Amino acid sequence: MTSANNTRFSAEALTWDSNPDVQLATALAHKAYLAHLPPAPTLSTYNVLDLGCGTGLLSLALAPSVLSVTAVDAAEGMIAALESKLASPDTNNNNINNTPRNVLPVCALLQDPDDPRLATDPATGETVPTGRRFDLVVSHLVLHHIPDLPALLKTIHGCLVPGGRVMVTDFEDTGPEARRFHPEGKMDGVERHGITEGEMRRVMEGAGFAEVRVERAFEMGKKVETEPGSGVLGPVVVFPFLICEGTKG
Ligand SMILES: C[S@@+](CC[C@H](N)C(=O)[O-])C[C@H]1O[C@@H](n2cnc3c(N)ncnc32)[C@H](O)[C@@H]1O
Repeated sequence: MTSANNTRFSAEALTWDSNPDVQLATALAHKAYLAHLPPAPTLSTYNVLDLGCGTGLLSLALAPSVLSVTAVDAAEGMIAALESKLASPDTNNNNINNTPRNVLPVCALLQDPDDPRLATDPATGETVPTGRRFDLVVSHLVLHHIPDLPALLKTIHGCLVPGGRVMVTDFEDTGPEARRFHPEGKMDGVERHGITEGEMRRVMEGAGFAEVRVERAFEMGKKVETEPGSGVLGPVVVFPFLICEGTKG
């Protein structure tokens, strides 16, 4: 990710949660993750890494179901927004009694599984000097911003315990129409117009994942520009999303 991207996401953090598309995409992704994950007795033991967590919408949604969530984002503004939600649950989380105590925001451009900033266990506060590993890595709406997908998937693989799982969601590249997911004025840092089943399968298997499954998880209607670059949102286009799963052998 470039520093321009970092600046962009930090600036967007202030209004991120007020975008209904962001809220809807997260709600649909959360539902899809739960449908693909094991039930409570197992899920509640999971230490989860949310890579590219943004303001923590998915992290906070998953937190009640799991042991801990390490919520990582490269953009300082995104992490500041999550920190402020965790500090002011009454105004931001809508549920004061269920304020998660098991979510740790971490500002980092994650490129190394041994990054010491991942070392603290959110649930206990204990630190593993190097090499803390996770049962599950999730990442939502991030892959289309990543220049080097094979490198990211290798990093994710390295972050997992043996037998750990990756589960990532992003919109599908279904052809020229997929470009309309972003307005033309917001193409900075968009590395690809969605992901494809074939590429994700190749990249995940190349990173060492077993039991790779890539399938459509949900569809989301989104208002797109009337004409490319018009800046005016009009017609609704339905974008399919893929969920990509694999296991570290
Ligand atoms: C489109 S936003 C999605 C945020 C969030 N997942 C959501 O759906 O609301 C993509 C985020 O990924 C972050 N990101 C991209 N590459 C990253 C990396 N290698 N490490 C940490 N964060 C990264 C960016 O800073 C940005 O906030």
